Amino acid sequence: MTTYKGIVLAGGTGTRLYPLTLSMSKQLLPIYDKPMIFYPISVLMLAGIREILIVTTTESLSDFKNLLGTGEDFGVEFTYVVQQKPEGIAQALILAEPFLAGDHCCLILGDNIFYGQNFIERLNQATKVEQGCTVFAYHVTDPERFGVVEMDENQNVLSIEEKPVHPKSNYALTGLYFFDNSSIAIAKSLTPSKRGELEITDVIRHYLSTQNLKVSSLGRGFAWLDTGTYDSLLDAGQFVETVEKRQGLKIACLEEIAYRMGWLSKEQIVARAKLFKQNAYGKYLLDTVGYPIFSCNR
Ligand code: DAU
Repeated sequence: MTTYKGIVLAGGTGTRLYPLTLSMSKQLLPIYDKPMIFYPISVLMLAGIREILIVTTTESLSDFKNLLGTGEDFGVEFTYVVQQKPEGIAQALILAEPFLAGDHCCLILGDNIFYGQNFIERLNQATKVEQGCTVFAYHVTDPERFGVVEMDENQNVLSIEEKPVHPKSNYALTGLYFFDNSSIAIAKSLTPSKRGELEITDVIRHYLSTQNLKVSSLGRGFAWLDTGTYDSLLDAGQFVETVEKRQGLKIACLEEIAYRMGWLSKEQIVARAKLFKQNAYGKYLLDTVGYPIFSCNR
């Protein structure tokens, strides 16, 4: 059986968000009621992935460990590795080689937020793939800021380019990638781009050249949110606030996902909720497991 392990890329310098990120990792900034990294981790968990590697910087390693620990609070297992310099997204595949130990991987960027119906189905399809690479395309107004995929009317991929000056389509490649284990060898064979990085789009283009690439389009009803600028960071927080307040259901509540997946017990959720001293997040957790809030006061 094919096993996919997870990788969250939470390094980088975050210079575009200075001074917010001068003393703090970008992926720890708040998106409404939880740290940014909860959102990509939730995607891996929804894909059924419990072994997760966090790739981060020397400076931020202890912050991530303080927040996430071994993973036992979330019913998963976290391993950590430091990326000494931000030398490209594809470098994460090379750093992950010992962790993957021959398995496939789902790589997700620590600053990407996904939300929409039927997403779990899409994730489940991707984790069934035994050979090749699955990526996700999303229609945007500003494709020049992203990896761009050009497709014909039958969804056949014609080209893939990283931040093209003249994009051939409006379809951006999101920061969610499912790779088989040969991606490590592909990443190792790359030479750095003009900006000095091992580009993930070069890895994807390699799969395209061997006809092992599947592009899945995320449609209009789907939200793929960006957190790369002050405005998009605030927009993402407001989006989460709006949906959560309207529905009374949280987006990317890791403890809830673990409980619903059967990875955490009711008792473990109640213990976690007590840690939050009855704040709204803690109350939500108690509600999730049907635990009367007043009993938490004792
Ligand atoms: O968000 C989707 C886009 O992400 C894709 O469309 C592009 O093809 C892909 O190259 C990437 O573009 P970005 O310009 O957004 O990448 P950025 O350099 O901002 O890095 C994305 C995240 O990965 C960010 O949270 C920092 C982290 N990172 C980045 C690099 C280059 C690392 O942890 N290490 C790195 O070496």
